[in-house]
Amino acid sequence: MKLLLLLLVTVSSCHGYNVLVVFPAPSHSHNSLGKGIVDSLLKAGHTVTWVTPYPEKVKNPPKSLTILDVSPVRKYFENIDGLTLKTSFAGFAMVKEATNNVSRDAINTPTVKETLVKQQFDAVVTESFFSDVLAGVAAVQQAPWILVAGTQMTPQIEAQVDEIRSVATTPLMFNPAEIPMGFASRALNAVMCAGMSVLGWLDRPTTIGLYEQLFGPLAAARGITLPPFDDAFYNVSIMFVNSHESIAPAFSSSPNVVSIAGYHMDEEIPPLPKDLQDLLDGSPQGVIYFSMGSVLKSARMKPPLRAALLKLFGSLPYTVLWKFEEPLTGLPPNVHVRPWMPQPSILAHKNVKLFITHGGQLSSLEAVRAGVPLLAIPVFGDQPANADRAKRRGYALKVPFSDDMVPEMEVALKEMLSNDKYSKQAKHLSHLFQARPATPRQLVNHYITLAIETKGAYHLRSVSLQYRWYERWMLDFYLLLLAVLAGLYTLLKFFIRLVIRKVTGKKTYKEPVGKKRV
Ligand SMILES: *[C@@H]1O[C@H](CO)[C@@H](O)[C@H](O)[C@H]1NC(C)=O
Ligand SMILES: *[C@@H]1O[C@H](CO)[C@@H](O)[C@H](O)[C@H]1NC(C)=O
Repeated sequence: MKLLLLLLVTVSSCHGYNVLVVFPAPSHSHNSLGKGIVDSLLKAGHTVTWVTPYPEKVKNPPKSLTILDVSPVRKYFENIDGLTLKTSFAGFAMVKEATNNVSRDAINTPTVKETLVKQQFDAVVTESFFSDVLAGVAAVQQAPWILVAGTQMTPQIEAQVDEIRSVATTPLMFNPAEIPMGFASRALNAVMCAGMSVLGWLDRPTTIGLYEQLFGPLAAARGITLPPFDDAFYNVSIMFVNSHESIAPAFSSSPNVVSIAGYHMDEEIPPLPKDLQDLLDGSPQGVIYFSMGSVLKSARMKPPLRAALLKLFGSLPYTVLWKFEEPLTGLPPNVHVRPWMPQPSILAHKNVKLFITHGGQLSSLEAVRAGVPLLAIPVFGDQPANADRAKRRGYALKVPFSDDMVPEMEVALKEMLSNDKYSKQAKHLSHLFQARPATPRQLVNHYITLAIETKGAYHLRSVSLQYRWYERWMLDFYLLLLAVLAGLYTLLKFFIRLVIRKVTGKKTYKEPVGKKRV
């Protein structure tokens, strides 16, 4: 028995790979996406090097984890707050520029550069988030590239691993249409997608310039030539998508696209701290949990809004837990404020009846896993679309964020707390969310290992990428078909004329002139 155990240990340690995880986006939710990958790999016995802007969050790193600190990039996101991002177009361009800055500074960090040149990794994991230049990390390592998409699939990511098929069938993130879409919604989808593609083309020179500037010298130092940007960009071995059919439309995609939604949470939900456990256990009447996440700081809410919320919460016959970053005075006795909350553990408590949230992707996933209905107060990004979908699926109501939203919130709260259809539906979706053949973290490990052992998982990649766009749409064939039909038509015309000439003995058949009809 001991021998067998020893054998097992040796065998499993033989399979420990060396993986580089690069998640420099300085926001807590993006950091959670990176942490989920790192935790999954470490638990399975792999060695991980993690490029992160929040090194201080890792308490007692194990020997198999090396942290590369890129915390100076945090400055680029400091002024990007959910409330300033509400004007989406300017916000979009700004986030794009900021993420390029983040990629640039992260790769230019001396420890990161040195690691990329001197070490050889078995695989590279990065996030697909605005800045595409990080394709260069896998390119200079010549290692399988695993890309993580933090939200549902979009045509832009789809195009990176497959043919774009979703435009006709699936509303884009910012298109609130229902499925099946009518003509107008499909047209809107097509126009939005074309607009995004144009923006992408306009950005290409910047992206390619930055890619070459950052990775050219690193490739040279490793004694290789940097591949052209497109060769690196479309060289995705596995695309992980942080979405699931329980909360997003089912999506057809190639076999290297794998849904791992929920992987950012521990497989065993950690126990609550004692004070919260006591508070929740002692609230059999029910608990409402309120958190606007880390992007939208509650402390930046205007004082009249804060006061109105406190008044509303104080009037409810439930315990209210509010994630608020600053101490608050004059709290009603049923309202409890904490600067930080162990969210998945709170949502898993049986007394929690409702989650008031901005509806961001991670919070939505944590709620659906726990089966808790949502009152969504979306602010920006994917939040309004998530909220609309959740509402349509029957486990949420939506009140758009504004300074005078409290009366509308009150109506929504009363409805949700007096009607159990929302919580029944949330429980049903939770069941769907968990009904999978393997846990999300098992999938993470399975597919990363597979990419390494098959040197790039080429067998799972869509064959679409081996064709040019006009070949995929069969345009060359249709052109030929058209030419053949045109040729046949000309031939047929020629023969008919020939026959007529033979029969009538005339050059062309014309109504004989001058001859009177009888
Ligand atoms: C990006 O970096 C450049 C140069 O360092 C700076 O001028 C610019 O303001 C930065 N932009 C954003 C959005 O952070
Ligand atoms: C593409 O990825 C494979 C591994 O998945 C790697 O061996 C190869 O060098 C990469 N090619 C380019 C052009 O980056």
